Amino acid sequence: MDTRPPPCESLQMPPTLRAAEPSDFDAIAAITNVYILGTAIHFGTEPVTSDELRREWLASRDRHPYLVAVVGDEVVGFAKASSFRARAAYARTAELGVYVHDAHQRRGLARGLYRAVIADCRARGFHSLIAGIALPNEASVALHEALGFGFVGVFHQIGFKFGAYHDVGFWELQLGLESLR
Ligand SMILES: CC(C)(COP(=O)(O)OP(=O)(O)OC[C@H]1O[C@@H](n2cnc3c(N)ncnc32)[C@H](O)[C@@H]1OP(=O)(O)O)[C@@H](O)C(=O)NCCC(=O)NCCS
Repeated sequence: MDTRPPPCESLQMPPTLRAAEPSDFDAIAAITNVYILGTAIHFGTEPVTSDELRREWLASRDRHPYLVAVVGDEVVGFAKASSFRARAAYARTAELGVYVHDAHQRRGLARGLYRAVIADCRARGFHSLIAGIALPNEASVALHEALGFGFVGVFHQIGFKFGAYHDVGFWELQLGLESLR
């Protein structure tokens, strides 16, 4: 007889994807802070607050997509686009980011979120998408390459966190050309 406890109920529920809402940012901050406080995947060093993330979302939501994955009534992941650089000529380029709660990884949530964010970016007229990945990060590199992003190059030792320098690799996807890769 299997005496193990049943898996967490929420793991058995199908995820849904939707646009972020103001009440989602407590969960988004909690997911993000795991990676700020415990890893060099995120280059922040101080925890983010839900208020600061909500303000950023409000300031950019007319221009950039911000999607969440929800299981039951719990936000378990998010993906967003943001400005890559401020100068006007970069207006058709966006930088993407994606985070999934570790209890919900390897269930296709990031793939679904990214597909939806990429489709939304295309519909909004973006031409080029960029992802910067602090290395090593096997999961994120594999995710981006699975979705057609091409490797651009590495900036060596451009981040300093937890007493060590970190490299950042960049990947790109040109919308309209991705099916050629
Ligand atoms: C990277 C991350 C977002 C992937 O989320 P996920 O929901 O687990 O990914 P998915 O289940 O959608 O996987 C999609 C593909 O990504 C790749 N992948 C995901 N996790 C992987 C892992 N641990 N090892 C190797 N490949 C992985 C695989 O190609 C996978 O396709 P497959 O399952 O058919 O093999 C998640 O690991 C995460 O939140 N990591 C911490 C935050 C982070 O690194 N964010 C990106 C910052 S640049």
